[in-house]
Amino acid sequence: MNIVILTGAGISAESGLGTFRDVGGLWTRYDLNEVATPEGFARNPALVHEFYNARRAVCRDAAAHAGHLALGRLMRAMPDTATLVTQNIDTLHERGGAKGVIHMHGRLDRALCAACGHRWDAPDIMAPDDPCPACAATATRPDVVWFGEMPYRMDEIMAALSRADLFVAIGTSGSVYPAAGFVAEARQAGARTLELNLEASDVAHAFDKARYGLASEVVPAWVDEVLAGSPPA
Ligand code: NAD
Ligand code: APR
Repeated sequence: MNIVILTGAGISAESGLGTFRDVGGLWTRYDLNEVATPEGFARNPALVHEFYNARRAVCRDAAAHAGHLALGRLMRAMPDTATLVTQNIDTLHERGGAKGVIHMHGRLDRALCAACGHRWDAPDIMAPDDPCPACAATATRPDVVWFGEMPYRMDEIMAALSRADLFVAIGTSGSVYPAAGFVAEARQAGARTLELNLEASDVAHAFDKARYGLASEVVPAWVDEVLAGSPPA
């Protein structure tokens, strides 16, 4: 059975990382157009680096919870048939034991040179005048996909969705495309669909089934059922 799992900020909420659109979420405290768009970075790269340096510090000290660990177990049990796509830029899935995670919005622990495309492990603190290790240009940015930019590895994601027997969305509000459209792609391929969230997402109507509750509780319960051979949705 081919499973595609999409996670969003909600799966990291109980590890202490803020979500975006919940009460107190990042986009209620920061203007995303200033810190999560190419235009914002061009206007004020220091502010953008400050925003991501602060998130990098929080992410560095965060621990994976039972939901991440359960998905790690699932990915290790089904390495050839389970695909884990995350919109998150933290690495809590990796700390939970998952391998081969597709970070469609990039990763906070990676840096990118906007001049030559070189990528490297980001230092804890990045600044606008950091020279690129490859070309020495001072055009370094977090290796994160911003509003208006295309996500990474979309071909792989669309191929996995076209083969999916089951699509599971975990902890995402379904408010940002193209990720919010993955459930429709999976349905098109004949997959069953399941939403695991605190509450109904913006695309809840598109799912066959839903289970609402904390990711740290709902995700391990669902993974245990799948690994025990129970119907997954
Ligand atoms: P979108 O469809 O999510 O939002 C459209 C526009 O609405 C955005 O450009 C943004 O300016 C505005 N917007 C969305 N939510 C808002 C909010 N809460 N407050 C104020 N303004 C808000 O994004 P898009 O412009 O269509 O770009 C989608 C692409 O950007 C996708 O490829 C997605 O993967 C990527 N993306 C990445 C991030 C990130 O931080 N990594 C964030 C959002 C989108
Ligand atoms: N357990 C399960 N779900 C949770 C929990 C939890 N403990 N806490 C919050 N949630 C759910 C919320 O109900 C909401 O549906 O997680 C979702 C968080 O939604 P958003 O804050 O919109 O985050 P996300 O869906 O990941 O945003 C998508 O937008 O700004 C961009 O790049 C950013 O990748 C992000 C994208």
